[in-house]
Amino acid sequence: MAITKDIEAVALHLRAGGIIGLPTETVYGLAGNALDQVAIAAIYHLKERPASNPLIAHVGSMEQAKSLCAEWPAEAELLVKHFWPGPLTLLVKKKEVVPAALTAGLDRVAIRMPNHPVALALLGLLPFPLAAPSANPYMRISPTSALQVDAYFGERLEYVLEGGICERGVESTIIGWEDGKAVLYRPGALPQEEIERVIGPLAMPASSTAVVAPGMAKRHYAPQTKLILANDIEQSIKEHDGLRLGILSFSKTFSADNILRMQSLSKQGDLREAACNLYAALQSFDEVSLDLIIAEVFPEEGLGRTINDRLRRASVELE
Ligand code: TXA
Ligand code: MG
Repeated sequence: MAITKDIEAVALHLRAGGIIGLPTETVYGLAGNALDQVAIAAIYHLKERPASNPLIAHVGSMEQAKSLCAEWPAEAELLVKHFWPGPLTLLVKKKEVVPAALTAGLDRVAIRMPNHPVALALLGLLPFPLAAPSANPYMRISPTSALQVDAYFGERLEYVLEGGICERGVESTIIGWEDGKAVLYRPGALPQEEIERVIGPLAMPASSTAVVAPGMAKRHYAPQTKLILANDIEQSIKEHDGLRLGILSFSKTFSADNILRMQSLSKQGDLREAACNLYAALQSFDEVSLDLIIAEVFPEEGLGRTINDRLRRASVELE
């Protein structure tokens, strides 16, 4: 496999039905032709993802976005005016041309226009949108660098397009509509408050739709080492003094003889910086032999909500 900057070679590979590692501003994706069932099947296979978990279509223009959907709510128009290109995915009724394999048989398609110069340049060279889930094997941590994609897939992927470190570092926020009301399906890199400033309060998914709701696999984004959440890190360190610990904090540093790795996500206490560093920090704990990772609960506002969502999922134990 090659980490490459050669966009034209990558475009050719995609036109021939191939799969690549794609940089975006959120996380890297595993991308292929979103209108080609065979390419979609190859993505599911590579990711080892159940076919019941649908993929996002990445578009390079509004025209392309509208070619995929049968209806376009007025609020969708408002949101894309404010936030596209950017880390916002919209779930809208799909058109016939969208393969059932992309949406796992559901009647809505997830669409976003990524805000990354390399991704946009690539999309500009292609006559089709790109299906792309995050470029991690099922249930593992999403990659925020080309090197991490390489570490996951090696020779199984012909190209990873180099796009630097992802500047957002967590996945897009997903919004859809139920009975005309906007619903937040996945908290993400675009804070809920910013969306609400444009279209008003968001609803939470009805429980009947929760099964098919996005990013909702219970355990997700998880390091191999067991992780727990704590409001009071100092106290939790005391409670686990016989164990080899990793600590993930917002801004403070903690020390004790049994802390083998200390990761604080933003010395300045900046939530955007913390989100950007989150996945690489989680990944780094698996480089050390630890018994337990203690992660601090973040403030429940803005990107803090997104970080807490990911940490809660990382703390779910496999049955
Ligand atoms: O930031 C992102 O969104 C990244 C980058 C690569 O764009 N992509 C990403 O994809 O996070 P993925 O597949 O890891 O997460 C997308 C979520 C999935 O949990 C999936 O269930 C949901 O979106 N989803 C996609 N299409 C859907 C649909 N038609 N209906 C319901 N949920 C859908
Ligand atoms: Mg994912």
